[in-house]
Amino acid sequence: VAMLLIACAPPAPTAAPTKAPTAPPTKAPTPTKAPAGPSGKLEIFSWWTAGGEAEGLEALLKVFHERYPDVEVINATVAGGAGVDARAVLATRMQGGNPPGSFQVHAGHELIDTYVVAGQMEPVTFLYKQEGWLDVYPQDLIEILSYEGDIWSVPVNIHRANVLWYNKAIFEKNNLQPPATMEDFFKAAETLKAAGITPLALGETWTVVHLFETVLLGSLGPEAYAGLWTGKTDWSGPEVTKALNNFDRMLNYVNEDYAALSWDQATQLVIDGTAAMNIMGDWAEGYFKAQGWTPGVEFGWAPSPGSAGAFDALSDSFGLPKDAPNREAVIAWLKVCGSKDGQDAFNPIKGSIPARTDGDRSLYDDYLKSAMDDFAKDTIVPSLMHGAAASPSWQQDVIDAVSLFIAKRDVDAFQKALSSACVEAGVCK
Ligand code: GAL
Repeated sequence: VAMLLIACAPPAPTAAPTKAPTAPPTKAPTPTKAPAGPSGKLEIFSWWTAGGEAEGLEALLKVFHERYPDVEVINATVAGGAGVDARAVLATRMQGGNPPGSFQVHAGHELIDTYVVAGQMEPVTFLYKQEGWLDVYPQDLIEILSYEGDIWSVPVNIHRANVLWYNKAIFEKNNLQPPATMEDFFKAAETLKAAGITPLALGETWTVVHLFETVLLGSLGPEAYAGLWTGKTDWSGPEVTKALNNFDRMLNYVNEDYAALSWDQATQLVIDGTAAMNIMGDWAEGYFKAQGWTPGVEFGWAPSPGSAGAFDALSDSFGLPKDAPNREAVIAWLKVCGSKDGQDAFNPIKGSIPARTDGDRSLYDDYLKSAMDDFAKDTIVPSLMHGAAASPSWQQDVIDAVSLFIAKRDVDAFQKALSSACVEAGVCK
């Protein structure tokens, strides 16, 4: 009621206008110099709506606004983690010839296999040359962004997918260490279950797929995991069967209402103390911090079980759609995305590390420093759920297989579906 009253109260009296009305100009003013920079409207499309990610975007937009004050940004977001809903909206818009100025897209297959091959993007190689980015982005990342000799988007960050987050107070109270192996995980999970705490917080389908990819990685190791996406690892082999059994067993330790929760609602269970752990990308770190938690104080982290030494990576990037409205402003936006100060404003809040190699380490917290160190020394593998490992159609087949599996819990049928998805994708024979 109080809020309503305030909202309905008459506006505070405004000061009398101090500026005298200006006399109509007698003749048109002669322009003395070229306009300072882009102006007009710029629509930035993303799915950053949850705690941490939304604040990160705000920080990036602030850098943009300071540099290009004449551009009015339309912050167009479509909620739904991993872009599950945003990507569908974007596809409709791209098909209808109504692209936003720029849009969030994962580096790799998610962009190349869709809008790049369809000829709907403009290459941004010229920006890399002009801004000196060829020297500050890692060569491997540039390769992922490249197709037919050109570079197609500008990454703002590197996220890590294979992280286990845990509530430190619960772990201390139950005398637990963060589980390093699958077996450790199951032991800790039993202890927690006996104590009446949900061992592992889980959310809607895409988060189950996210969990699944980390279990594949933790069970197979980085080389064999990476081989799943190149056809080198046999999807119907015994190692994969073992991974699927681990995954099946893990699902015995999750909250019952997982299907109804978004990723951040699942992470919130760890804050509430109803669940002890959550396996999620490090945007969860941004979420914890947005809720007032401090890394190493209220929450701890470890590589997801079995995956130490591997960094399951993905990158958020922005591109230049052909016929983007206000191209000049889009290019200004991309320059900010690729800039050191843009990335150093965004990433410490987002829970990611800069995609550039020259970020200012002192701005990053203990978790993010550890992620920087691991990124430098670990084996880097591509994330499936976040657009790097496989084409969107193959990814969808895996999502469908996982959905069916959580309903039926039939490991054999699951493995068969996964094997044929690889064949369907044209990667396996
Ligand atoms: C990922 C994205 C992250 C984060 C997360 C949850 O796909 O790369 O930046 O937004 O989804 O929304």
